[in-house]
Amino acid sequence: MFEEAQYFAPVETQGDGSVVVELSRSHPGFADPVYRARRNAIAGLAVNHRRGMPIPAAEYTEEEHGIWALVAGELAVKHKRYATEEYLEGAARLGLPYERIPQLEEVSELLEPLTGFRYLPAAGLVPLREFYGVLADGLFHSTQYIRHHSVPFYTPEPDVIHEVIGHANALAHDRFAALYRLAGDAARRVEGDEALEFVSKVFWFTMEFGVMAERDELRAYGAGILSSYGEIEEFRGMQIRPLDLRDMGQTEYDITKYQDVLFRAESMRHLEDVVGEFWATCDDDSIAKLTHV
Ligand SMILES: [Fe+2]
Repeated sequence: MFEEAQYFAPVETQGDGSVVVELSRSHPGFADPVYRARRNAIAGLAVNHRRGMPIPAAEYTEEEHGIWALVAGELAVKHKRYATEEYLEGAARLGLPYERIPQLEEVSELLEPLTGFRYLPAAGLVPLREFYGVLADGLFHSTQYIRHHSVPFYTPEPDVIHEVIGHANALAHDRFAALYRLAGDAARRVEGDEALEFVSKVFWFTMEFGVMAERDELRAYGAGILSSYGEIEEFRGMQIRPLDLRDMGQTEYDITKYQDVLFRAESMRHLEDVVGEFWATCDDDSIAKLTHV
């Protein structure tokens, strides 16, 4: 149904309790046994984590902290040029470290006093209903690993750079945090899988890949764009469509390529009026009407 299943590497718990991440042959870390051992260990932290416990610290190498420092520094420069005002305000409030990868527990400690959100560790793909549902409780599932050091500006999977730089900076702003919570309310309210997929696609085209008009130019607030070194330079050249719920809920996307169809909100208020209102009120019937009329 949803294509994340292909881009999150599958995670398996073996009979002896050990956790194995199945990287595909095309993954940049496939032939690096040291990286793979670390991926398995980090996935194990999430598999063994229970809600309410502090998130165990992942062991990163100096090289990996260096990847974060390199990418975070480059993205911060690009954010000034391409990110919306609210996202930049969130980033300023949150104050993520630039020089090293923050632990997820530390991200939670920075975020919770601002908007009440806390992070939960995820080993890989989290089922849609669980991933979106807990947003209503102020909880955000996040991977903890970082991309392979051979390609610092590329990742085939959502890594800690995407989850923290892309999402936490937005979650640090009250208005975005409120929208994430409403997405969670919607995911809990709808019963059918089709309606849930519709809710998740609206999330995809807004919180992941949303763009917004601001002072006569197009800026981005979506975490997928703002955490991607390449995509952030390209989004203004994509096909830009009006913020239409029916269109967002029915447009197919390919997660393995840059998003070539994007939806523009005219302002933060416009995003809240259209998408926030939809998540606050939608149910299976209202979504069926959008889908079938
Ligand atoms: Fe994401």
